[in-house]
Amino acid sequence: CGIVGYVGAQSALDVVIAGLKRLEYRGYDSAGVAVLADGSLAAAKKAGKLVNLEKELVGHPLPAGSTGLGHTRWATHGGPTDANAHPHLDNSGRVAVVHNGIIENFAALRAELAERGHRLESETDTEVVAHLLAEQFSATADLAEAMRQVCRRLDGAFTLVAVHADEPDVVVGARRNSPLVVGVGEGENFLASDVAAFIAHTRSAIELGQDQVVELRREGVTVTNFDGTAATVRAYHVDWDASAAEKGGYDYFMLKEIAEQPKAVADTLLGRIDASGSLTLDEVRIPVSVLREVDKVVIVACGTAYHAGMIAKLAIEHWTRIPCETELASEFRYRDPILDQRTLVVAISQSGETMDTLMALRHAREQGAKVLAICNTNGSTIPRESDAVLYTHAGPEVAVASTKAFLTQLVACYLVALYLGQVRGTKWGDEIEAVIRELSDIAAAVDTVLETMEPVRQLARSLADKDTVLFLGRHVGYPVALEGALKLKELAYMHAEGFAAGELKHGPIALIEKDLPVVVVVPSPRGRSVLHDKIVSNIQEIRARGARTIVIAEEGDEAVVPYADHLIRIPATPTLLQPLVATVPLQVFACELATARGNEVDQPRNLAKSVTVE
Ligand code: G6P
Repeated sequence: CGIVGYVGAQSALDVVIAGLKRLEYRGYDSAGVAVLADGSLAAAKKAGKLVNLEKELVGHPLPAGSTGLGHTRWATHGGPTDANAHPHLDNSGRVAVVHNGIIENFAALRAELAERGHRLESETDTEVVAHLLAEQFSATADLAEAMRQVCRRLDGAFTLVAVHADEPDVVVGARRNSPLVVGVGEGENFLASDVAAFIAHTRSAIELGQDQVVELRREGVTVTNFDGTAATVRAYHVDWDASAAEKGGYDYFMLKEIAEQPKAVADTLLGRIDASGSLTLDEVRIPVSVLREVDKVVIVACGTAYHAGMIAKLAIEHWTRIPCETELASEFRYRDPILDQRTLVVAISQSGETMDTLMALRHAREQGAKVLAICNTNGSTIPRESDAVLYTHAGPEVAVASTKAFLTQLVACYLVALYLGQVRGTKWGDEIEAVIRELSDIAAAVDTVLETMEPVRQLARSLADKDTVLFLGRHVGYPVALEGALKLKELAYMHAEGFAAGELKHGPIALIEKDLPVVVVVPSPRGRSVLHDKIVSNIQEIRARGARTIVIAEEGDEAVVPYADHLIRIPATPTLLQPLVATVPLQVFACELATARGNEVDQPRNLAKSVTVE
């Protein structure tokens, strides 16, 4: 989501709307604004893109004021409707709040507020904050203090901005997790999720730290910690231009999205396991008893999401022992698949609008199968037509080639596998917790990979004039190899193919010639060491025939060293989770090769982000 706040001498509405336009890349399900004018608060909000809100404001203008806030939403709790759009107001209509993130204990707070006579009108967690703020403000008459008190009661990750009609020259923000930046002007100050929103007005910025509250007035800003003590903050000068600012200083959205992966992975895991240790999906419209009876899982998806599905098959079969197959949605739909009430079809789609996947889903439901969607876009068609949904929290993905959505799809697949095991009463012991813990550690491991990518970029540049690159892997490494090859096709327009390493000798080995780059994804030598040893022999086979080997192997795996012309190290992970780290160098590799070949990274030729035709 994108957030903007303003206090100064200009029209708050104009500043906020212009800021939201620069943040629309962060989400565009719905948008809303609130301004303080003549001692009262006026707000407007609308589902859909920002232009819908702008049209609404032409028909129903807000009074002119110089304090205000706004929001452009990427729906998480509640679908993308007018009512669920931000800002949210309390019952008196004097407090307005916008929010980015998830408040995990909102159900308990909601119940508590209802008991005290509050009427809550939307399905969002944000509305709870508006009501709590109104209560605390009545007691303190100080919005910043009210905000601190409320934040101390909230669990989860949240960034909030609020105004109160009784403090007409104040905007208050609070940050835990998702970013919030202050823009410091002269006689005016700004708040935004991203400097892009205020760069037209000031380049002087302060980044809020974790658990800090900021009070913005025309003449200055005060930052405190949630406990009220004075906070240390980081002030800096923004030297990006406006278009770079939208990309967070990166040259391409794809680079920004690659860098966002640790957070996307962590966000997708957040709040999935409750106090009793059970996993939850976001929406379940089928009785758990039906899920318990499932005797076959079929995963359908396209493109990158299909590769996530191939990895999901391995996790689901290993953890639940339910037979599982993964199929391209476009193939599944037209081959008369065998499905019945006991089949669970899992549809994976970042956009939730891919027509091939949607048609597969409809076909499955017509045959009586139940459908569970894994999707990154709240309220899109695929989750709406499914029986159960697990949302990934990658945030908006703008670059056509999928990166952070893929990693979060993997996380979601692991969660679905564990969830199925749980509803079927699989005897886990503490395995669920162990896997969740290992998954949580992976965000940091992805970060480590990102920090060591310079040699990969150099290697990519050195291969810019090659025509072909091959990718090999086994087990989970096979879909990773396919994904590496797909990225290279999409971005570098090179002939790239992924093979199961064991199949090499049955054909593809004929392609190997002197100096042909071959990327090999090596499984962990711990755990299934047979798998590891087999692939080491495959590397020797291709190297003996002249291939230039680019080996992706776990830290400490010494067996591969003699056969690797280039060695890319990744942190040690459990075998099934390895794709979360092994894919990252391949994304960086493809992106850098595309740049070296002068290609358009974010919008490759002939491709579309979301293909809504069959
Ligand atoms: C398009 C995109 C791919 C994507 C595929 C599936 O072909 O170019 O990057 O993987 O659609 O998209 P979905 O939104 O269903 O995950």
